[in-house]
Amino acid sequence: MNKVRIAVLVSGGGTNLQALIDAEKSGIIKDGKISLVVSNNADAYALKRAEKAGIETATVLKKDFITSSDFEGELVRLLKENGIELVVLAGFMSILTEKFIKAFEKRIINVHPSLIPSFCGKGYYGLKVHEAALSYGVKVTGATVHFVNEIPDGGKIIMQKAVEIKDGDTPETLQKRVMEEAEWKILPMSTQIICKKIKNGELL
Ligand code: GAR
Repeated sequence: MNKVRIAVLVSGGGTNLQALIDAEKSGIIKDGKISLVVSNNADAYALKRAEKAGIETATVLKKDFITSSDFEGELVRLLKENGIELVVLAGFMSILTEKFIKAFEKRIINVHPSLIPSFCGKGYYGLKVHEAALSYGVKVTGATVHFVNEIPDGGKIIMQKAVEIKDGDTPETLQKRVMEEAEWKILPMSTQIICKKIKNGELL
């Protein structure tokens, strides 16, 4: 049976994209194929990672559209044109609204660098999440992969992994450990699980 066509949406460094590319190569993702990488930032290093892996890329910039609805409309058009069946948000720093979510209902997953429902929702992204965890003083944090719905970081949880906070951690050291120990593992694993469900017709 054909592999599920995956689009990965990125904005920055793309280490999670790299983890997905490596997981497809090593066979951890065996029911899906990363077919397109889309960035909302022309300078994203993630685009270079995709090109190096021979994956088609596209850049869609918010500033080229009058409204965010037009921006999302173009994203939807591009993904549909490429026959995309699963959208993976991997460090995509733009909140998607109803227009996009309706077009790919139950077909969008996201990785977030905390244990949801802690340190999530509007305003919590990237290093800010780790700053918040450290300033609150929690001893355990982690990462979550979840479905995307109209509530920021509010969709059904697919997988989580805890990461211990160490004395002397800075937002940067914590971010690195959460990526290494949690995100780069649970995002590829979750992607495979969802691809398999889509292929088997279990995710209606
Ligand atoms: C990752 O830590 C990801 O979880 C986070 O941004 C980073 C992107 O790094 N995403 C969010 O905060 C979304 N709310 P990457 O570009 O190297 O994958």
